[in-house]
Amino acid sequence: MEHDLLNIKNDALSMILAAETPEELNKIKLDYLGRSGRLTRALKTLPDLSPDKRPIMGRLANEVKTALEDLIEDKLQSLKTDTKAKRSSLDVTAPSIMPPTGHLHLVTQAIDEITTIFEKIGFSRVRYPEVEWDWYAFEALNFPDMHPARDDWETFFIDTPVDPKKGPMVLTPHTSSGQIREMEKAAKQKEEHISIKMVNIAKTYRRQSDVSHTQMFHQFETLVIGENISITHLKGVLEYFVKSYFGEKRKSRIRPYHFQFTEPSFETDVSCGICNGTGLLANGKECKLCKEGWLEMGGAGMVHPNVIKNAGLDPKKYSGFASGWGVERVLMMKEGMELDDLRMLYNNDLRFLEQF
Ligand code: PHE
Repeated sequence: MEHDLLNIKNDALSMILAAETPEELNKIKLDYLGRSGRLTRALKTLPDLSPDKRPIMGRLANEVKTALEDLIEDKLQSLKTDTKAKRSSLDVTAPSIMPPTGHLHLVTQAIDEITTIFEKIGFSRVRYPEVEWDWYAFEALNFPDMHPARDDWETFFIDTPVDPKKGPMVLTPHTSSGQIREMEKAAKQKEEHISIKMVNIAKTYRRQSDVSHTQMFHQFETLVIGENISITHLKGVLEYFVKSYFGEKRKSRIRPYHFQFTEPSFETDVSCGICNGTGLLANGKECKLCKEGWLEMGGAGMVHPNVIKNAGLDPKKYSGFASGWGVERVLMMKEGMELDDLRMLYNNDLRFLEQF
């Protein structure tokens, strides 16, 4: 019987503590202390005990009974004061709990900023397919079939039927395919004087993944086509972009390079913001971020006449320049960030992303 009484006590205790309303407490009171409650029923078996045990168990049963009654009473009181306290502390003017708000990814922020910079000088942002025909990604850009220069683009080919004219499909390895699409669109309009100023910002894909490369990254491609467009226009736009995006102190330069789709071709650089283009830090040590004061943004050049022709325009009438720069790259160069691993940008780790 002692065991039974202790069980009853423990069960009732845990229910009383968990109760949240006076109704629940009343029910517990009935179930345990009511006329046919568990404790009352246990008490009724007292006469069956041997005379020496009867008083001991009788006392224990009474102790359990008063303990439960007291506890129920206490709990009733505390429920009443709780609701009162809650009511009086409801301050309708207090600021509410705000749900956590996010922000745009830092690459998206960079894309927005780049777009605005080019729109200010009359460029229009365009977007073209991310899964593209070989014709637009290579062939029309003056890469003959099997030309070794294609290898630099480490392309993902798509397993779809090959088109007799446009070849296989690829994930765009660069935004330059947009050059052909844009000129083709203009050529179809058959206007007397065509003038193109586009900035194509898009995802690009290459078979590469290491600390400084991700398989998906972004490029922004400018294309200006008109009558009498020259290298000076290219240099002017480069200088304007560098000053607007990186700041007045930064300088730009072009150096000779080779691309199939531009002639002449250049690599474009911006002076390093850490060592101010000197390659040396204040303590006389070499700057770790750049090569002799310069950071590379990407390629540029005067659009090759074959490319203009392939897109359906007359290269004798039209000339132009194009550039293809990396969004993640300019972002890193601007912030002076030395990310140990560029893949961090796309790991979606909030501890990293929330810093921007
Ligand atoms: N498409 C080239 C690249 O991905 C860059 C480039 C664009 C070069 C336009 C010249 C003109 O490296």
